[in-house]
Formats: sequence, structure tokens, C-alpha cells
Amino acid sequence: MRDQHPLTLLLIGSGGREHALAWKLAQSPLCRRLLIAPGNPGTAAHGTNLSDLDVTDHAAVIAACRREGVDLVVVGPEAPLVAGLVDALAQAGIRAFGPNAAAAQLEGSKAFTKELCRDFAIPTAAFARFREVAPALAHLRAGRIPVVVKADGLAAGKGVVVAETLAQAEAAVESMLGGGLGAAGAEVVIEDCLVGEEASLFALCDGTNAVLLGTAQDHKRVHDGDKGPNTGGMGAYSPAPVLTPALEAEVMERIIRPTLDGMRARGTPFSGILYAGLMLTAEGPMLIEYNTRFGDPECEVLMPRLASDLVPLLVAATEGDLSGVVPEWRDEVALTVIMAAPGYPGAVAKGSEIRGLQAAEAAGALVFQAGTKRDGDRLIADGGRVLAVTALGHDVREAQGRAYAALDRIDWPEGFCRRDIGWRALARET
Ligand code: AMP
Ligand code: GLY
Repeated sequence: MRDQHPLTLLLIGSGGREHALAWKLAQSPLCRRLLIAPGNPGTAAHGTNLSDLDVTDHAAVIAACRREGVDLVVVGPEAPLVAGLVDALAQAGIRAFGPNAAAAQLEGSKAFTKELCRDFAIPTAAFARFREVAPALAHLRAGRIPVVVKADGLAAGKGVVVAETLAQAEAAVESMLGGGLGAAGAEVVIEDCLVGEEASLFALCDGTNAVLLGTAQDHKRVHDGDKGPNTGGMGAYSPAPVLTPALEAEVMERIIRPTLDGMRARGTPFSGILYAGLMLTAEGPMLIEYNTRFGDPECEVLMPRLASDLVPLLVAATEGDLSGVVPEWRDEVALTVIMAAPGYPGAVAKGSEIRGLQAAEAAGALVFQAGTKRDGDRLIADGGRVLAVTALGHDVREAQGRAYAALDRIDWPEGFCRRDIGWRALARET
């Protein structure tokens, strides 16, 4: 690694993921100064928030980097990646961790990823792409049900319909191609429905090499028992016990490696975090989708488990220097529970006061903040997902017990959470 001297880091984002990243980065002896744009009240405990910096304004981000002497920019969310922030920074000679816009198409375009899978024999559901309603409907009527209809572009979690009936599938096609999701739905992907257990695997990539950076399982539905609408994620644990070491190796070999090889062969090498959403089918692991960043809330369980310093890992990835790197992990399970504002994932009521975070942390948890803001001394709920309460334990049962014991010390009557985070792994433990 070239840089052994401490660095000034700029972290982009404002969610629970970024609070977890800020918490981890600030512990590094290689972090001289941490800036977060725009950040949130949680990240402010670990660095300096540039709350007024508009991260969609690339010239403003570049100017801030020059003014503050930033050595490395770490991009948290997908939107700035897909919008080409890393490209703009590279052109300005500023080093950034995360894929450029061409490589971020792995998340930004489902059709792009499906074509890559086809060209490089990466296991995934069979698919077809459509821009017109009539041929898409004809394809549905000739095919099997259930079937999955996906908008090609970024749709904030609303772009996937797993249709149990032909009518549902037809309605999804008509709504997406009819402009219901804007430009994200100008093209749809129709794919076979895969059956199995879902899990996520994270790989740190430098364009050529990929290093396993942990596994996790998320809880997408808003209510206990996996009921209700989809959310950004209501809780997670890491590792995912269903991904045995043999399966991890198989995913790295049959999915992650050919993806990196394929992206390089196409002239768009991928560096950053490759987050593979997997279905563990009877025929082996298959790729559901890629994200090109850490998951949220998955990051809130990966960072507390990571024993290695994160800064040299990110620097090595940006420098094409990951060969031989093996991250070290605590020998513990991490589990996080999201506290959300009433109404989430729909329109939420903001403005209620949150108390008791110190009591929760004194009970042995890490409380990462997402949709919060400060009003003088008061902490106020200001978003859908508001807090992520993370605890470690020797097994999922212990981590779950500690996370809920800490969460119950938080004084925020308006907030709600799922009470069954970890159920799948618990069933496996007993
Ligand atoms: P995504 O928004 O792409 O993460 O997809 C949302 C969810 O849809 C996934 O987590 C899966 O539960 C489900 N899904 C997507 N594609 C498929 C598929 N081909 N077969 C079965 N379920 C799928
Ligand atoms: N938790 C799902 C995501 O970050 O996309």
C-alpha cells in the first residue's frame, strides 16, 4: 500500500450505513480527519459534517476536496455512483472509493447485468427485455406464473414485482412501461421466478481481484413474519449461516469472479463493493441482482464484525492492490434492528423526539442514526428509517437478545420495529 501516512477522508451520504462507516473509519490510525457530506447527527460524533455540501453538484464536491485537502472520497449510496461522481473526481485527480458510472451500471441497469450474466455464464434467472407493452404481454401469456417483472433502472426499491398471477404481471408491465416509475421503467426485464432462501454476499473489488467482505441476511418486509410492503430493510444479521464456507467459495468462483472478468473484458473494470443478492436454489446459488455499494442495514452489521482496519482495505481497492489481502473478523455474530417512524415505508410522520440513546449504548449496543436531526439539545426523527440498533453475540440468539434489550431502553414512543429480526437464523441454531 502506497499511503502509510494518515489521510483526510470525505464520506458521502447520510444514512445508517454512513454512520456505521464513519464509526469504523474514525477508529483507523490512518484517518487523520474525517469529513462527511451531508452526514447526520450520528456521523457528527466521528468527524465533521459538511451539511451544506450538495453532493449532486460535482463541481462543489471537487472544490470542497481541494479546499479541505481530501486524500480519499468514500461514496456510500448508489445515486452518486450512478450519476458519475467517481468519474468527475477522477478527472479532477481526486481519488475515490467506489465504481465509476460505467461500472455502477451493475446496479443502475438490470438489463445490463442480465446481459453480462448471459455473456459470461453467470448463474441467474432466465430473462427477456422489453420496451413495448404488446410483446411483453405476449411473452407473459406464453410463459409460466409466478414470474418476476423488473424496471430496468433505479426505482428506490419499487421496481420489482414478484407476480403470483398473470393479471398482476400484466398490470406491472403496463404500469412500468406506461411511465409509472418514470425513466427507470422505460425498459422492463421479465424473468423466471427463483425458489430458495435469499442471502447477500459482499466482495471488495479492485478491478481485477475480489476479496470476500462478509455475508448477511436482510428483512425486507415491514412487519413481523415477513408481512406487509417491502422496505429498504428492517434489520439484518451477519454472517448469514445459510452461506456455508463451501457456498461462499462457490459464489466467489462462479458469480463474483466471472463478473469482474467480464467487466474488465468489456473495458469497464469494477472497483468498489459488489453486493450480490443471491437465491440459494436447488441448482446452486444464483444471482438475483447486484448493488454496487454496502447495503443498509447490512453495513451496520458488517462494520462491527470487521476487525481489520477499513482504511487500508479501501485504499488497496482503489489502487488495484487487493491481491493477497485477507480481512480479519471478530468471532461474533452481529444483529441490527431498525427503528422506523410511523407510516414507513409510506409517508412518515416526522418531528417526534428521541431520547435514551446513551442508555441503549450503555446496555452494550451500537446505535447508528439514519433519519435524525438535531434541534438544539434534542434529537428529532426526520426520516423513514431512523435508528439501527446493533449488538454482537456468540450466536444470533445472544446478539438478538442484546439488541432488543438495548432498543427497549430507547425512549421514542412513536417509533416502531420488527420484533423477530433473526428468526430464520434462530430456527437454524435450534
Ligand atoms: P430487488 O429490488 O431487485 O432487490 O428485488 C426485490 C426482491 O424481489 C428480491 O429480494 C427477491 O425477494 C425478489 N426477486 C427478485 N428477482 C427474483 C427472481 N428472479 N425470483 C424470485 N424472487 C425474486
Ligand atoms: N438492504 C438492502 C439494500 O441496501 O439495498
